[in-house]
Amino acid sequence: IAPDTGRRAAEGERRSEVAEPTVTLSRSGSVGVITIDNPPVNALSQEVRIGLLSALEQAELDPTLVGGVLRCAGRTFVAGADITEMDAPPSEPTLPTVADAFERSRLCWVAAMHGTALGGGLELALACCGRVAEPGTRVGMPEVTLGIIPGAGGTVRLTSLIGAEAAARLVTTGKQIDAVESRQIGLIDVIAEDAHAASLEIAGSGGRAIETSPTPRAPKPEFWDQESIRVREKARGQESPIEALAAIREAATLPRAEALQAERRRFLRLRESEQAKALRHVFFAERKAGASLRNVPKAADLQRVGVVGGGTMGSSIATAVLISGTAVTLVEQDDAATARARNLIETNLKASAKRGVISSVEPVLARLSVCTALSDLEECPLVIEAVFEDMAIKTALFKALDDVLPATAVLATNTSYLDVRELARSVRDPSRVLGLHFFAPAHVMKLLEVVRLPQTSDPALAAGSALARQLRKTAVVTGVCEGFIGNRIMAAYRRNAEEMLLRGAQPETIDAAMRDYGFAAGIFETQDLSGLDIAWAMRKRRRLEGKDPAIATISDALCEVERLGRKTMGGWYDYVDGRQVSSPETARLIAEFRDGAGITPRVYTAAEIVNSILAAMSREAEAILREGIAEGPDDIDVVMIVGFGFPRYRGGPMYIARKAQ
Ligand code: 3HC
Repeated sequence: IAPDTGRRAAEGERRSEVAEPTVTLSRSGSVGVITIDNPPVNALSQEVRIGLLSALEQAELDPTLVGGVLRCAGRTFVAGADITEMDAPPSEPTLPTVADAFERSRLCWVAAMHGTALGGGLELALACCGRVAEPGTRVGMPEVTLGIIPGAGGTVRLTSLIGAEAAARLVTTGKQIDAVESRQIGLIDVIAEDAHAASLEIAGSGGRAIETSPTPRAPKPEFWDQESIRVREKARGQESPIEALAAIREAATLPRAEALQAERRRFLRLRESEQAKALRHVFFAERKAGASLRNVPKAADLQRVGVVGGGTMGSSIATAVLISGTAVTLVEQDDAATARARNLIETNLKASAKRGVISSVEPVLARLSVCTALSDLEECPLVIEAVFEDMAIKTALFKALDDVLPATAVLATNTSYLDVRELARSVRDPSRVLGLHFFAPAHVMKLLEVVRLPQTSDPALAAGSALARQLRKTAVVTGVCEGFIGNRIMAAYRRNAEEMLLRGAQPETIDAAMRDYGFAAGIFETQDLSGLDIAWAMRKRRRLEGKDPAIATISDALCEVERLGRKTMGGWYDYVDGRQVSSPETARLIAEFRDGAGITPRVYTAAEIVNSILAAMSREAEAILREGIAEGPDDIDVVMIVGFGFPRYRGGPMYIARKAQ
């Protein structure tokens, strides 16, 4: 056993020409130190599991060792099982075997954690007799987000350590918690600036330095039913959270060996499930999204971003940028408008503070400057326009920006539907233009469509990429077309749904079918929420421009009688005391439309509705791919899941379409 050379020794100095083992055993006095070095996130691949068992065996055989430390090189403790192995059958030694070996060891093993200790990583730590974490460490059981549950004794060990209620909260949600909260609930024993040093000390004492925590109390009998209702409601058809709760219940009530076996059975079944396969697809698709943003030379972090327009969207974009720690210069037309924008931003920030996104409003708001002159944007390497959705207004603004800003400044538009190419033609150097299509509210929604024109330069794209990185958004690159990727596919969904209305379906049956499929909301209730008049105005504009056929739709008929949605207490639905109910008036208007078209209504089953809408979405998605608007099918899935509430556990419209082929 080599002497232990310190905490991050594995990163560099230890590497030689010979392929280094991913797991090594060294020693520090009478303590054995097992180091996992499997970049980037120390996932528990088969090689690591073999290495762990072998190192453990070696340590056990050394009579001079009294304890052991399990630690990781690099940026994080183990982030879980290796997800890339999950499409193949489990390989030996399995993770439960490794975890059991740590638990049964004659040595007291202490897990020294930093970065993130997730899933199988936390399960290994739970099998140790002590856990030490550095202050910034985050821990969690994110398995449910992959359609599985912990499969290496995690539900059983967690439940006996922190109690069923806290365990259920962690395992059914996949939520990560920080070191302080972990310490409070008894999940870790010690927080230390240097987890390795603290762990050596504890292991050297044979674990005597760890305080024994009191046995957690059992939950009240009604807990299980209440929790089951909560979990089912949130799961919206996803299996794993429900299975996770069942496993915790077994952990709390069955003999330990039986609970461990039951957990493994559930894990193995879920691992093969369609939902888990779809969620694995999404996991990797999200990480690959926006490929060309990663292929351009990386831009330095943006220190200040300019936003022109302080309406709802402009203020929301400014809020997102401010929250990321970047300064904002916001330009509005006059002092009254700048004051309104500042108020909107302050309101957004207060709501973000309430949600725990920021700890206090003032220091964030202090990064905001509001002004009325475009020349005040001089110091902004990136300026985003979010003014009224009108081509004449936007081109005039771009011309003015082109005149006052340095030639290196990147100009971005947040337009949803206007032609970005036309906007780019209004400036002398169109290569500095790109689209940054945020989703409302921009300080909450994770998706960003980066609209790339053929002439957009690499530095302009790199500025968009830097912004996405700083805002921690999932960015996808899109070419120019009406609605880009997401709104264009949603338009196909809407057209198909309206077609079914005409043929006999009702808004509530279509919405219910899509909710049951897993969408957070149906298209008609969503339209009622945002107001039907915005899309109406757009349809009228497009008809005038000859881009849409001049055929009136049922939504036009609703708008003409002032049924604009929730704001007029009626749209597709009626709203009685804030409750959404079926509308006889809407049903009458739909029937009139059908009669006018000479259609005899037919009944649609939920399956027919879902299949018809999915087919419409995937047809549009295929067209988007053929036209080269999206960079790949996975990006389309990411857009629909992250930006439009497509059920993650279904994998996205392209995943479904390709699977069916
Ligand atoms: N297995 C395989 N690869 C993984 C991985 C895993 N568990 N976790 C991350 N990676 C890969 C990513 O695909 C990415 O690869 P790339 O560079 O080729 O795109 C790379 O590691 C870096 O990942 P991120 O881009 O996500 O890096 P971040 O720094 O943003 O995030 C993280 C790090 C928080 C660890 C995040 O990667 C993460 O949440 N990982 C998944 C954690 C997880 O779900 N663990 C549970 C696994 S299931 C399990 O443990 C089953 C057990 O109970 C039996």
